Amino acid sequence: MSVSDVVIIGGGTMGLAIALELRWRGASVTVLSRNFAEAAFHAAAGMLAPQAEQLPPGPMLDLCLQSRAMYPDWTHKLEELTGLDAGYWACGILAPMYAEDRVSNGDTDTCSDETNGELAAEWLDRDAIHQHQPGLSPDVIGGWWYPQDAQVDNRLLATALRMAVQEAGVQLQEGVVVNQICRQGQQVIGMQTSQGLVQAGHYILATGAWSQELLPIPVQPRKGQMLSLRMNASDRQALSLSQVLFGSEIYIVPRRNGRVVLGATSEDVDFTPNNTPAGIQTLLGNATRLVPRLAQVAIEEFWWGFRPNTPDELPILGNSPYSNLTLATGHYRNGILLAPVTAEFIANLVMHHQIAAQLLPFHWSRFRTSRHSEAIWG
Ligand code: GLY
Repeated sequence: MSVSDVVIIGGGTMGLAIALELRWRGASVTVLSRNFAEAAFHAAAGMLAPQAEQLPPGPMLDLCLQSRAMYPDWTHKLEELTGLDAGYWACGILAPMYAEDRVSNGDTDTCSDETNGELAAEWLDRDAIHQHQPGLSPDVIGGWWYPQDAQVDNRLLATALRMAVQEAGVQLQEGVVVNQICRQGQQVIGMQTSQGLVQAGHYILATGAWSQELLPIPVQPRKGQMLSLRMNASDRQALSLSQVLFGSEIYIVPRRNGRVVLGATSEDVDFTPNNTPAGIQTLLGNATRLVPRLAQVAIEEFWWGFRPNTPDELPILGNSPYSNLTLATGHYRNGILLAPVTAEFIANLVMHHQIAAQLLPFHWSRFRTSRHSEAIWG
C-alpha cells in the first residue's frame, strides 16, 4: 500500500516535529507510531540546557544553541495552530555548586563571565546565589546563572505537537509496529508492519532508543529514572522556585502549575523497566540536599524512560546509505532541545535535497569503521 510521499517511523518528539515541517513544505506524510506513551518525549524533563549540560564547544553545542534560539517561535507557532499551551518558559537555569564540585571542575574564580550573546553566563558567589535562589543548602558555595537556558513542559509540548500534526493533515497511525525495513540494492522498497506492507517515496527513521530493532545502528538505551513532587500554596511561597536548578547529580525543574520534576539517573541497563528504590533514593537524597525544604513536599509520580545514546553521545542525522532513507535518531540527553532544528534540517534535506553544513558532523559514516557499520551497510 502506498500511503504518502514520506513515511516516518517513530511518533516521538523527532517523528512528530519532522512530520509537521514536512507538511508545511507540502509533502503528504504518514507517521507510524508503535506506542506514543513509550516515547522519551514523556520521560524527559524538558530542559533546554546546552550551557547547563556543559556541552563542549563544537558542532553539537552550536546545533543545540541554534535549536534553543528557535524554541520561542516554534512553540508560539504550535500554540497558534492548536490554541494549546506548548509549555515554553524562558526561566533561565541556575547551576549551584558545592565545595567538592569546585575542586572537580577547577577554580571558578578564573572563569570569565560573559554577559551578552548566546553564551551569556554569570558566576554568582555565595551571597549572590543565596539571594538569587532562597532555600538552597548552606553547602552551596556559588554557581553559574545561565539566563538563556530555558525549559519546556514536555508533556504540554507533546499534546500540542500531536494535535498540530493531526490538524496539519499528517496521517498519524498509532499502534503500528514496523517489523522490517524491506530493501532492494541501495533502495528501501517498503516497511513490513503489523498492518501489512507500507510504501512511500521516502522514509525517515526516528525510532530513538529502539533504532537497533530495525537497523544495526549504534544507538543504545540509557535509562533515566525520574519523579515529580506537587507543591501546595505554602510550599510555593516557601520555596519560590521560578528557575531550573541544575545541581550536582540532580536537576530540579519547577513547572508553572506547582509540579516539580526531579531527574535523572543514567543507567546502562538495556531496556530494564521500572523505578528502583536505589534510583529514587539517590534522586531524593540529591534533591533534598540541594533544596532541603523539598523534603516536605508531596510526592506525585515516579517514571522512567530510555535515552537514545550513541558511542560518541551525538545524534545520527541525515542521509543513510539508502537513497530514500533518512536518519534522525540518537539524540541522547538533548532530544527535546534538538527537535526544532532537527525538524527543519531534515525537512529541507528530504524535500529540497539541501544538506545543511551543521548536519555533516552527525552523519552515520563516522561509525563506518566500527563493527556496526560493517553489519549495517556492508
Ligand atoms: N536532558 C537531561 C537528561 O537526559 O537527563
